[in-house]
Amino acid sequence: MEIVSTADVLREDLSEWRRAGEHIALVPTMGNIHDGHLSLVRLARKHAERVVVSIFVNPTQFGEGEDIDSYPRTIERDTRSLKRAKVDLLFVPDVATIYPFGTDNATSVTVPVLTDDLCGTFRPGHFAGVTTVVSRLFGLVQPDVAVFGQKDYQQQLVIRRMAEDLSLPTKIIAGPTVREEDGLAKSSRNQYLSDVERAIAPRLYAAIVEIGARIDDGNTDYAVLEADAMEKLRLAGFDPEYVSVRRASDLGAPESSDDDLVVLAAARLGAARLIDNLLIRS
Ligand code: PAJ
Repeated sequence: MEIVSTADVLREDLSEWRRAGEHIALVPTMGNIHDGHLSLVRLARKHAERVVVSIFVNPTQFGEGEDIDSYPRTIERDTRSLKRAKVDLLFVPDVATIYPFGTDNATSVTVPVLTDDLCGTFRPGHFAGVTTVVSRLFGLVQPDVAVFGQKDYQQQLVIRRMAEDLSLPTKIIAGPTVREEDGLAKSSRNQYLSDVERAIAPRLYAAIVEIGARIDDGNTDYAVLEADAMEKLRLAGFDPEYVSVRRASDLGAPESSDDDLVVLAAARLGAARLIDNLLIRS
């Protein structure tokens, strides 16, 4: 596995592969690699001969008071995991490589509407930071395919919309959420949880699974399902931000004719902000 931190070396390596007719898949991450990330690497491998993983803790997607300083940075362990996963190239740019004119003067890419609610309400500016960094990574790597996790459902939809709206040639693929045995979605932020909080954390997924079951039973009073789940989460010790049933394709309010729905939830638990979602297909 090559480890590259500059745009020049990256370009050289990539152009060699392209000359050989090989396709390139990119898996963007912020590091602290876990099984969720590694599942995306395996999915990427199915779509391209060469797999590039990027690790960059992107300052522009963290808001004031958020966890950019405490975000787990485990580059040595990450390098070993990605090597074992047979990643071809690990791209670890510094801030100046991604933002040559500085973060305050950066050209930014924003997707409207889709970013206005759910996580967008609670993390203003977050998705603009995500689309800005992902568009830069796409510019640097020019991947044929880029793989994202369904775990961050709204993020994945926002990136798809950006790629479609800007006619970017990169195909966006989403991989399913990898979970712990008790249902908790794997996340770098789970390590902020104390033992007691860790025992409570799976109830977030349990709450959205229960909503899914009630919808499968024919319940369409989504507002009641959402309010019940919020209350349950509060009683369990969470500080819930939202629980919401939406149309899966664009996060719009579901209508009776919509077949594909998604239940999304975000809640704070101690120092961690946890998000999860469940697709419901009828
Ligand atoms: P990060 O949180 O490191 O996640 C990198 C990718 O892994 C994202 O596409 C995310 O959805 C996916 N992922 C995280 N946990 C997962 C799980 N349990 N199962 C499957 N996939 C999972 O998301 C980001 O970084 C950043 O916002 C980024 C897109 C890299 C832009 O900075």
